[in-house]
Amino acid sequence: MSNAVDLYDTSYGHYAARLYEGVRKETYGEDIGQTSWMTVDEFRRIFTMLELTPASQVLEIGCGAGACAVYMVESVGCHVIGLDVNKNGVRNASELVRTRKLDSRLRFERADAGQRLPFADQSFDAVVSNDAMCHIPRRLAVLKEWYRVLRPGGRALYTDAMIVTGALSNEEMAARSSIGYYLFLPPGENERLIREAGLELLRADDVTEAAAVLSKRWRDARALRQSELVKVEGEANFDGLQTFLACVHNVARERRLSRFLYLARKREGVWRRQ
Ligand SMILES: C[S@@+](CC[C@H](N)C(=O)[O-])C[C@H]1O[C@@H](n2cnc3c(N)ncnc32)[C@H](O)[C@@H]1O
Repeated sequence: MSNAVDLYDTSYGHYAARLYEGVRKETYGEDIGQTSWMTVDEFRRIFTMLELTPASQVLEIGCGAGACAVYMVESVGCHVIGLDVNKNGVRNASELVRTRKLDSRLRFERADAGQRLPFADQSFDAVVSNDAMCHIPRRLAVLKEWYRVLRPGGRALYTDAMIVTGALSNEEMAARSSIGYYLFLPPGENERLIREAGLELLRADDVTEAAAVLSKRWRDARALRQSELVKVEGEANFDGLQTFLACVHNVARERRLSRFLYLARKREGVWRRQ
């Protein structure tokens, strides 16, 4: 299915361009190459929640353009494998590994994280996924795969900005999901699925504010560069993304669609074949 509006191909394909770097800087303050609702402060808190150390083997699902994984490796010193389905994202990510000389600790693969993961059982200390889970169908099967590749005691963390906590019109749901496949979930469903996959839920935090704030900054930063962005993206796509970002802002600000962060752990001493 082709998306009505493209975000990822363009953002990752033009990752290094000053135009897109300028948008990221104005949106996030500190640009660590995100294409999401995550601030650098939130990412640093995630390192702590995952108990990352230089010895940690980490799997990042939906790594986008790869720069967040670079930031993780350079901040913590851990080993990371990043997966994403987007060709431009993985190409950019692999280029970052080469130019930053990180190939002993970081690599990227193009893969659909909705399928069986190409890794042995118990290969990772942590699985992390920021704002990507919403794009992957069959959530329970995905979480069971995370359970399989985590070592006992290992931790998993993901954010999900698609929790329906208020009334949404059909136009809003269409605009909010115009850039690809999205799964909208009721409150409590991620918690239930995490437990059903065999993981122990440690916390579920409301992190909607970041989506409300960053979507507005992102839209404003793009509006300031409209003529240049239209030359790259075309008018219809520029307008489509502005509508998408305005919708994210409205539904998040009014807490009708909420973003949550889930932290879970694979218990020690229990091995459940999934
Ligand atoms: C909102 S972006 C987040 C990227 C990055 N985590 C960040 O914080 O900037 C969501 C990412 O999920 C990826 N994605 C979507 N479906 C996927 C799938 N089935 N398997 C792997 N990655 C997927 C997209 O290509 C995109 O890069």
